[in-house]
Amino acid sequence: MSLPFKSHIAGLPVYQPPVPPAGVQNVVDMSSNENPLGPSPKAVQALYSAMGTVHRYPDASSAALKTVLAAKWDVSPANVALANGADEFVLLLCLSLVEPGDEIIMAHGSFISYLLRATEVGARVVRVPLKAYTHDLEAMAQAITDRTRLVFVCNPNNPTGTVIPTRAFETFLDEVPANVPVVVDEAYFEYAVDADFFSSVERLRAGQDNLIVLRSFSKVYGLAGLRVGYMVASEAVIDYIERARPPFNVNRLAQVAALAALGDSEHVRRSLEANEAARQFFYRELAAIGLYSIPTRTNFMAVDVGRPGTEVARPLLERGFIITALDGWGLPGHIRFSFGTPEENQAFVAALRELLS
Ligand SMILES: Cc1ncc(COP(=O)(O)O)c(C=O)c1O
Repeated sequence: MSLPFKSHIAGLPVYQPPVPPAGVQNVVDMSSNENPLGPSPKAVQALYSAMGTVHRYPDASSAALKTVLAAKWDVSPANVALANGADEFVLLLCLSLVEPGDEIIMAHGSFISYLLRATEVGARVVRVPLKAYTHDLEAMAQAITDRTRLVFVCNPNNPTGTVIPTRAFETFLDEVPANVPVVVDEAYFEYAVDADFFSSVERLRAGQDNLIVLRSFSKVYGLAGLRVGYMVASEAVIDYIERARPPFNVNRLAQVAALAALGDSEHVRRSLEANEAARQFFYRELAAIGLYSIPTRTNFMAVDVGRPGTEVARPLLERGFIITALDGWGLPGHIRFSFGTPEENQAFVAALRELLS
C-alpha cells in the first residue's frame, strides 16, 4: 500500500548545495550571498552570554525584537512578525493564502523559493519574464486574474541584483486590485543605499494594506546560520500569519543575536563599505576580461558568460569556488556569485580569467 504522498511535493527537488570534488582544498562558498565579514561582534558576544539559557523555550512572541524593529521602522509592534528566516514567510504565505489550483505570480528570473513553495501547496505558478534584468511590473500587473492569491516581487532582485525604480513600483501598486497581496522581498534592501529605492514601509504606513514586506538578518547582519527574518505588514496580515506560524519558530539564540546586531551600526557600516569596494572591484575586473556584469545593488553579482552557466560553474567548483549557474533560474548563459573577502575576490577573478581565456 502506498503512502498518501502528494505528487506536487514528491516532484520537488531536495535542496542540494554544490559539493566540490574530493581533494579540493580551501573551498570558497560564493553561492549563498552571506556576509564575508562574518556576524556582528556584538551579536557574538550576546550569544555567549545567552548560551546558558537554552534549556528554556524562546519567547514565542519575540517581543523584544518586535519592539525594536517597530521603533526602527516607525510602525506598531502589531505590524511586525518574526520567522525562521524570510524563507519561512514564503512558505507561511503560500500555506495560508493559496489553495491548490490558485495562481501566484513571480518574475521568471527571481528567487526560486517562491516557485518551490507555491508548487508545494499545489499552486499554478505564473512566471513573467524579466525586462532588462528587472521585474516587468506592467506585465506582472496584467497577469493578475481572479485566481491570483499572491504576487512576489523581489527588490533588489535575486539573482540579478537589480532595483525597481520607485515610480514603476508606485504605479504597479496603484494598478493591483486591493484584494491581491503583493509580497515585496527585501532581503537585500540594506545594500541599496543611494539607489532610487521604493520605500515599501512608507507606503504601508500610508495604508497600502495588501503590501507585505519581507526582510532578513541573514545578509548585512551576518546571521544566516541562526535563521531570522521579519515581516512588516498591516495588522490584519500580521494577525493572520501569527496564527499560521509554529509558536517557537525563532529560537532563543536567534532572537538574542538579532537584537544585538540591530544595535551594532558599526558592523553594518563596515559591511556596506566592504561590499561597495567589492562591487567596484568586480565591475572593473570583469570588464577587463570582457564580461558584462549586471549592475547590482546587493552583495552578489550576475554575469553573462555567453555559454551555459554550468560550463563555468563546474570548472570553478573544481578550483574550489562554489557559485550558482543561473540556467535553471530563467537566465541561461549567466552565473551568480556572492562577494567574498578581498583575497577571495581576487582569487576568484584570477580563476575566472584563466577559465575563460
Ligand atoms: C531574495 C531572498 N529572499 C529570501 C531569502 C532567504 O532569507 P533568509 O535567510 O532570511 O531565510 C534569500 C536568501 O538567500 C533571498 O535571496
